[in-house]
Amino acid sequence: MSMIPDEKVREVRERAPILEVISEYMSLRKSGANYQGLCPFHGEKSPSFNVNPARGIFHCFGCGAGGNVVTFVMRMEGMAFPQAVKFLAKRVGVEIPERPLSRDEKRRADEQDQLYEVNQMAAEFYRRVLEADEAGAGGRSYLERRGVGPETAAVYRLGFAPDGWDHLARHLQRKGVPPEQAEKLGLLRKKEGKDGYYDTFRNRLLFTISDLHGRAIGFGGRVMDDSLPKYINSPESPVYRKSEVLFGLDLAKKGMREKGSAIIVEGYFDHLALFSAGYTNVVATCGTALTPGHLKVLRRYAERVYMLFDGDEAGRKATVRSMELFLEEGFPARVVEVPAGDDPDTFIRREGAAAFAPLLQASLPIFEFFYRGLAKSLDIRGVEGKVAFVNEVAPRLLKIADPVERTLYEKEICRTVGIDQGMLRRKSGAAAAPAPAARPQTRPPESKNAGTEEVLLTLMVKFPDVVERVRQHGADKLFDLCYLKVAEAILEQSAQGEVDLPLILEQLESPEERGRLHSLFVEDAHLEDMNAVKAFEQCRQALERRALKGGGKALARELATVDPDSARYAEILAELEGLRNKKSKLL
Ligand code: UTP
Ligand code: MN
Repeated sequence: MSMIPDEKVREVRERAPILEVISEYMSLRKSGANYQGLCPFHGEKSPSFNVNPARGIFHCFGCGAGGNVVTFVMRMEGMAFPQAVKFLAKRVGVEIPERPLSRDEKRRADEQDQLYEVNQMAAEFYRRVLEADEAGAGGRSYLERRGVGPETAAVYRLGFAPDGWDHLARHLQRKGVPPEQAEKLGLLRKKEGKDGYYDTFRNRLLFTISDLHGRAIGFGGRVMDDSLPKYINSPESPVYRKSEVLFGLDLAKKGMREKGSAIIVEGYFDHLALFSAGYTNVVATCGTALTPGHLKVLRRYAERVYMLFDGDEAGRKATVRSMELFLEEGFPARVVEVPAGDDPDTFIRREGAAAFAPLLQASLPIFEFFYRGLAKSLDIRGVEGKVAFVNEVAPRLLKIADPVERTLYEKEICRTVGIDQGMLRRKSGAAAAPAPAARPQTRPPESKNAGTEEVLLTLMVKFPDVVERVRQHGADKLFDLCYLKVAEAILEQSAQGEVDLPLILEQLESPEERGRLHSLFVEDAHLEDMNAVKAFEQCRQALERRALKGGGKALARELATVDPDSARYAEILAELEGLRNKKSKLL
């Protein structure tokens, strides 16, 4: 049990608008009273994830995930309930009284928080050096040379690590930070064979790497001359999981949502150049290969991506590697080519922001980019080149998830080398792993033939009139079991004012019931034009009929076991007669 007082939980849920919170993590589009998007909890291509802001709930018709704003954060961030409530509380400025934690709990909860805090301290330290300290002069003139002004430096939280072995180490010590923690984050390193620690970043310009909430999770530090390595980056740590982090995501979320697309670049400065030029939907991989984790993140904000890789051989190879990922995921990707010798940063600095738009326009679908480049490099005029070409292309064709797209590419490629499609298919079958297993299709929304009790519940939630009628009639005469609990909670809360639907649903014990009701309440556009009173009457009659029928059956069964001469026998007969009368009046 969480020890956060109920009224605090309620306050957090009320103050943290579900639409805003979920929009932090993904794109949502308005559709009727709801907002829809691609479900972040399972892979899908058409949106079955619904958010109903008025009700404060979400539901995915594809995988059945559903709940309120706290549930969402729990799943998305992998947090336990109290942690998620506190996370949201911080966001909306609700003060939560701390209960005494067990020592073990405290250590675990604090560790994560403290690591964020230490990174934040370091970021502020480096930032101050760059902005104002004498030791930051080198960094300032480097930025000036690269044409980066103070506003941009602030947006990127650029900093400077002074030349020397222990500037940060001493700063953190003064602040009472245990060096082991800073070591875990890769900020400090242990001296070999001696006591003490030294700074990882020395005499480097630093980019702060942030998570999607803008919290500092690491740093990337560039030398200011030609020495190697050019960049030193923070290592993986409990707050920095490289396979899931894209540099600049916190800045680009909004742009990606607005444009529906993402631009992927390689470097820190490429990000800075594009973002400053108005391409605000840009993220950077920063030297790591694109992973399925990255795609999952991107998919939440963008429907398609543009890959921008340096026009060199390494860039080309990286593009082909990530192609397989995109094809398997069925995630539309195009490749933007920058002229050989350029990267996005150098190109934009020289040619200006406007010159970048035609490059985007000339982008090619990633598969086309791949096989055209291959055809060029292999010289497919001769038989040898053709064979090599087909051997390279065939296995990758199989990775295209969409059969129509695959067939069209097959045709293109057959035309290119002059073989027939059957042969190409046999080739790919022999050369490669089996085709990817069919991806599970997302189920269409459940049909709206929900039981009568469910219909009546949705009516109650939508129409205050119906609540009153249910009150007059007595909920227990209309509802059974779990639905009765929900109906009574609605009655009780509406008598006191607002109905807190998320709270009611949260209190249901069975996850199946909860799921069922979330799906019921999240989408009720079909009730829009309904005459509520008439609908209520229909439900009531159907339910009472059912109750009578049920009652009748039980009586009939009892009748068969009772002595025909007993008083009970006569009683049952009379009751059955009464039921028959009521039923005929209902019909
Ligand atoms: P680049 O070598 O293309 O550098 O590496 P860059 O981003 O264009 O940087 P400038 O313009 O020369 O200053 C691309 C990215 O790969 C990562 C960095 O994230 C870099 O931005 N990288 C590169 C490293 O992590 N370490 C390195 O030594 C080099
Ligand atoms: Mn560059």
